Amino acid sequence: MKFFVDTADLQEIRDLTATGLLDGVTTNPSLVAKTGRNFLELVAEICKEVDGPVSAEVAATDFETMWAEGCKLAAISPRIAVKVPLTPAGLKVCKGLSANGTMVNVTLCFSAAQAILAAKAGAAFVSPFVGRLDDVGTDGMGLIADICQIYSRYPTFTTQVLVASVRHPMHLVTAAKLGAHVATMPPAVIRLLFGHPLTDLGLARFVADWEKTGQTILP
Ligand code: E4P
Repeated sequence: MKFFVDTADLQEIRDLTATGLLDGVTTNPSLVAKTGRNFLELVAEICKEVDGPVSAEVAATDFETMWAEGCKLAAISPRIAVKVPLTPAGLKVCKGLSANGTMVNVTLCFSAAQAILAAKAGAAFVSPFVGRLDDVGTDGMGLIADICQIYSRYPTFTTQVLVASVRHPMHLVTAAKLGAHVATMPPAVIRLLFGHPLTDLGLARFVADWEKTGQTILP
């Protein structure tokens, strides 16, 4: 399973890249707005920090402008996955860019029917937003189960399920049980994955007991 970080904060990306566990980055207009940075410059810098796909979202909603924006974003780096909304125009852009060899991440997916459309449009990734579904009293992880089941029935569907709007470690664990290909998580959620009180307690005991031996492993 691949781990992407859902942030446009360069320092967070650098820190998490240092763990060796990061496979890519997703951004969106809200995350970019928080940084106050120039979008194109920021995305180019992110691409230099990470080895895997970097999702960069178009700003327009009409086909022509989205297409032009997508081509411009794709020209920044072969690592760019152009992010388009799950609309008829977005899927048309997805089909064209994918046919040209550009990775496309179809975002704002909230139903299995939409995920089927994204796969048919040749998306490299589809992003179902589990947290936002939970927020409105709908089972976000149920949607992931449905999409994984449907995609597994059609070997010609090569779209990867990118679980988005992840709010806590159990979203990630459930996504992994279901066989989702990728989860994109805010930095704070990735950090939570490492923690367990018994790990901290156990380590403190081992350190204390080792000191009692009076030994060192290294000279
Ligand atoms: C995914 O690509 C989105 O950027 C993201 O996961 C949205 O998450 P949110 O619902 O926490 O804003």
